[in-house]
Amino acid sequence: MYNMIGKLEEIKKQAGEEINSIGAIEELKKIEKKYLDKKQGELVQIFHSLKDLAGEEKIEVGKKANEVRSFLIEALKSKAVEIKAKEDGGSGEEWLDITIPGKKIEIGHLHPITLVRREVEGIFKSMGFNVADGPEIETQWNNFDALNFAKDHPAKDGWDTFWIKSDKAIDPDSPERLLLRPHTSPVQIRYMKEHQLPLRIIIPGRVYRNEATDASHEFQLHQVEGLMVDKDINVANFKYVILEFLKKFFKREVKIRLRPSFFPFTEPSFEIDFSCIICGGKGCRVCKQTGWIEMMGAGMVHPNVLKNARVNSKLWTGFAFGFGLDRLVMMKYKIDDVRWFNSGDLRFLKQF
Ligand code: PHE
Repeated sequence: MYNMIGKLEEIKKQAGEEINSIGAIEELKKIEKKYLDKKQGELVQIFHSLKDLAGEEKIEVGKKANEVRSFLIEALKSKAVEIKAKEDGGSGEEWLDITIPGKKIEIGHLHPITLVRREVEGIFKSMGFNVADGPEIETQWNNFDALNFAKDHPAKDGWDTFWIKSDKAIDPDSPERLLLRPHTSPVQIRYMKEHQLPLRIIIPGRVYRNEATDASHEFQLHQVEGLMVDKDINVANFKYVILEFLKKFFKREVKIRLRPSFFPFTEPSFEIDFSCIICGGKGCRVCKQTGWIEMMGAGMVHPNVLKNARVNSKLWTGFAFGFGLDRLVMMKYKIDDVRWFNSGDLRFLKQF
């Protein structure tokens, strides 16, 4: 038995030395064959002779043979790695290929609505407007009552409001009743109450409408509200501001037209269309052959609204407007379906 163990020790020592001294993969293969070959390998011979041994001895020698085999396999493996590294040009101990191109860090993208919102803000700021905001959950008072909606005025239906459920039994007409704001106009009230006059602001923000979604309708959209209150403000001031804005936004001369309309919070009220920037007013698919694109609602701030915001309507007048941002973004980037905006689809978002 000691004979066999001694032999195994010897194999281990010798093979170890041989492995250490070599420098090429081919030599490594020779050593592997010499000791581990399934038929003639020196170590394998010993495994074969195990069957002639008995009891204790068989176990002892078998254990040692396994140990030597694992040692050889490991030594061959690490030598192979070392040789490979040397061939690739490293020192053999630690190596680094500095010619491999680095992994590119992916940079996030701004949502197209954010891009256009910032652009719109920049243009209005250049005309002396401040940017304001307000909460998306509003009270009935700020959203309707203070904006001069009569309690059961049918106009309320036009805003397709999402009402927020309350634990308490609450009167549906209560000014405190909460809702998801369907327009940014309630921020007019909040802002006028808290700030000195004169003022010039825009209020970009999310609004919600309880309606079915399709390619051109979403229940969550973005509006930009505008409000200017000063002495002697009239419709001409409004027209000038909007024309300037459109000219800067589309980088060309744009015409607008005012059509009479109705909003409880403005008097007079109008809808504003601008001349189609695709066809220049001749008529095309985008403007449905009319030459005009509907842009927004606007008007002179109703005296009742000023009063509800604690502004003296005998001294001050103002105009207000509100337009949808989503459509502007769609026109700018030629996006044909609003539902892309909230899809979270990276293929869409990575284009901006
Ligand atoms: N709030 C109106 C809407 O959502 C738009 C508007 C704003 C109209 C300000 C007049 C003045 O349709």
